[in-house]
Amino acid sequence: EKAEPLKIMISGAPASGKGTQCELITQKYGLVHISAGDLLRAEIASGSENGRLAKEYMEKGQLVPDEIVVLMVKDRLSQKDSEESGWLLDGYPRSSSQATALKGFGFQPDLFILLEVPEDILIERVVGRRLDPVTGKIYHLKYSPPETEEIAARLTQRFDDTEEKAKLRLKTHNQNVRDVLSMYDDITLKIPGNRSKEEVFAKIDTALSEMLQQRNKAPSSL
Ligand code: AP5
Repeated sequence: EKAEPLKIMISGAPASGKGTQCELITQKYGLVHISAGDLLRAEIASGSENGRLAKEYMEKGQLVPDEIVVLMVKDRLSQKDSEESGWLLDGYPRSSSQATALKGFGFQPDLFILLEVPEDILIERVVGRRLDPVTGKIYHLKYSPPETEEIAARLTQRFDDTEEKAKLRLKTHNQNVRDVLSMYDDITLKIPGNRSKEEVFAKIDTALSEMLQQRNKAPSSL
């Protein structure tokens, strides 16, 4: 009998490296990556009324209202691939009301990862971030430059990646992080994120492989 798939949450300030670590985690563990920010940007791109509303909050670095976010994430978590392969929830929940709603729907993570990065470094990471619209890969002009000229030429920037907006996003994060942490106290793993992305991943990798090993030893226990 196959062991239960992993269910992981990853949290941290803007540009703490959530998306970057999610790329590495999904490559190795095959979990379904569900990013609240990506779901919202897809909603904006679809031109829907919810997307239009969401953008107003994102422009101000504030949390998008629960009426828009909660069911959007729940629907994605409920899809077959997430149930079968396990999930990696990125940037959700960001408030106690979101955490409570998730619990009410029956979604409990095995591990809550918090990436901790000093604030001055976060701003530099935000401003230098670039995205490849073709592959979805995350780059940084200094820390993770594009591999080829062709990729470099097509890179884009997020509309909320200015220093001013990043500071507002950081403020929102600082206002909410303690509330969320208190809901997952017993399963929280804090990781210093001010290291190379490989070093950060090595810590996460160790934790996840230990969890899987435990499970494979005792597949019927929790
Ligand atoms: P979201 O898209 O989630 O943005 P965020 O939380 O601000 O996080 P980022 O995506 O900016 O950063 P990241 O941690 O993924 O870092 P990355 O790996 O890219 O949310 C956007 C908005 O949507 C929110 O402001 C809010 O309005 C709304 N929203 C989202 N979730 C919501 C929710 N639950 N409820 C309500 N509203 C919600 O890395 C950043 C840069 O650093 C990159 O350039 C990368 O290459 C570089 N980098 C990464 N790791 C390293 C490293 N170890 N060393 C050097 N450089 C590195």
